[in-house]
Amino acid sequence: MRSALRTHTCGALRRADVGSRVSLCGWVASRRDQGGVAFVDLRDRHGVTQVTFSGDRDASLLEKASALRPEWCVRVTGVVGPRPAGAVNATLPTGEVEVGAEALEVLSECPVPPFWPTDRTEAGLDLRLEYRFIDLRRPKMTRTLVERAQIVSTVRRHLEAQGFLEVETPLLTRSTPEGSRDFVVPSRLHPGSFYALPQSPQLFKQLLMVSGFDRYYQIARCLRDEDSRADRQPEFSQVDIEGSFLAEEDVYGLIEPLLRTLVQRYRGHDLPDPLPRMRYDEAMARFGSDKPDLRNPLELVDVSREAAALGFRVFSDAVAAGGVVNALRLPGGAALPRKDVDGWEAEAKAVGAKGLAWAKWGAEGLAGPLAKVLAGDPGRALLAAAGVREGDLVLFGAGPFALVKKVLGHLRKPCGERLGVVDRNRTAALWVTDFPLVEWNEDEKRWDACHHPFTSPREEDWAVLEQDPGAVRARAYDLVVDGYEAGGGSIRIHRPDRQQRMFSLLGMSPDDVQRRFGWFVDALRFGAPPHGGIALGVDRLVMLLLGEEAIQEVIAFPKTAQARCLLTRAPAPLDEKQLRDASIAVVAPPPKQG
Ligand code: AMO
Ligand code: AMP
Repeated sequence: MRSALRTHTCGALRRADVGSRVSLCGWVASRRDQGGVAFVDLRDRHGVTQVTFSGDRDASLLEKASALRPEWCVRVTGVVGPRPAGAVNATLPTGEVEVGAEALEVLSECPVPPFWPTDRTEAGLDLRLEYRFIDLRRPKMTRTLVERAQIVSTVRRHLEAQGFLEVETPLLTRSTPEGSRDFVVPSRLHPGSFYALPQSPQLFKQLLMVSGFDRYYQIARCLRDEDSRADRQPEFSQVDIEGSFLAEEDVYGLIEPLLRTLVQRYRGHDLPDPLPRMRYDEAMARFGSDKPDLRNPLELVDVSREAAALGFRVFSDAVAAGGVVNALRLPGGAALPRKDVDGWEAEAKAVGAKGLAWAKWGAEGLAGPLAKVLAGDPGRALLAAAGVREGDLVLFGAGPFALVKKVLGHLRKPCGERLGVVDRNRTAALWVTDFPLVEWNEDEKRWDACHHPFTSPREEDWAVLEQDPGAVRARAYDLVVDGYEAGGGSIRIHRPDRQQRMFSLLGMSPDDVQRRFGWFVDALRFGAPPHGGIALGVDRLVMLLLGEEAIQEVIAFPKTAQARCLLTRAPAPLDEKQLRDASIAVVAPPPKQG
């Protein structure tokens, strides 16, 4: 780390360096003046070193040091000395030494920043993003970006050791149907025509398989014009992987050791070998989600049969209408105050439920709105079916299958956290498999691909593709970590006739297909090998490994929830000339820039 201006970084000096003459460069983290001596903590991304300016040694140097302000960028030359016994700081790697300054050079001054770059900060997210260059000086953010780089480096080394070749694919391309809206870029040379930015390198990686690059990977930037959430950004990175002549097991066998290494290093424990696998149907039935958080032991139980026999209209009507009744049992939950249940009822309604029936079984027997209804034999049978015991609280959802699963699946998280049964020190990873190939889009009255249209159905399901599309299972798999979809992929369709059938099922006419994907289907005619792959979300993976709650915390320059970059003020209107060059007429007036 030696360079023209420095001999060491601010994290490097140790006891063994005592006596050496060194030059350090960094930012003033703090300055304390104590009876003729100034102590300056000098910080760079590697650490902090204490520098002392002694008035006895050099009065004018002390005077210069006394003018230093936090966040100024300086260069110090001096001699490493041991700290006096009482002054050793065992929490700092450099805590046994200090540099006795002999020269000081101010490289850059700094005004009082909008917030101090300390780990604990009062600054809100917007301010942190507007002054991200200051925010990234915070040791925590520095550590995060270093760890992110280490994780990506581990991924690269793992894949390269397995014979995967990194190939870059274009950013200026055509729309690929990954289910989101495209960001588009106008073409100056072809007025009225647009490139689409890739939602993923999906089609290019498949073409690379046709070309014979049997093991491809890329750390790929993906762009999707969708609403942001804590785990979603309009621009994000994938570890994108594709291989030829492989099956699901090969993908699992490739990813599992990598994930195991990373979880061991960053979470400090082993993952089961092999990782658990769960079919989509089972995940929905037990957890009401296709990305269940297995750190949370609460499960949904179908009690439709027992509930229909109860003589309670809400339940019997739901079952008579073809719906279900599910129970979510909270062991020991009878002790929880009413306001918790009221809060969950409000949450249930916020995600579409009509209500949230519940009962608790305390020392005095049953209580709650369902207490009377549950008092008789049918009630006892229902409670038994749901596994409810004395001391428990039980929540019920009644209605259409998808809604009930969504509502109770959503409540698992707050309920589990309230009960304190979610083990946050563990990482729970699993494969979710056997997804449906397509789902019915009621608004558009057509079938949509669940993963993407290039995903292969199971071989035996080709026979019923057109007769019963909803029953067809896909050769698709998701890697689920702590309730997040950390990755997803599939074995692809590699025969052009079958790819045509798939597009037809999705309601695309042969003309549509020819126009939009003719180039791709055509390529499959030229000796396409069987192939498949996966993409891991880099940002999500890093977030999970580092125990962060939002991917913004692990991206150097992220966007806000409204997809703005507060630092550069993007997006922004173009000036007249740029619009003219791009042959663009803006219909809506450009928004006022704040
Ligand atoms: P998919 O769309 O499932 O698959 O994306 C793969 C993984 O990318 C991550 N991800 C995101 N991360 C942050 N912000 C987003 N907006 C976002 N969207 C997705 C998730 C997800 O699991 N081409 C296919 C992969 C394949 O079939 O090989 C694809 O892109 O972690
Ligand atoms: P009601 O008969 O509408 O007064 O509802 C009686 C109880 O059933 C209340 O506790 C409601 O919150 C609850 N409830 C109503 N609809 C549903 C539903 N679809 N699923 C679960 N509970 C419900």
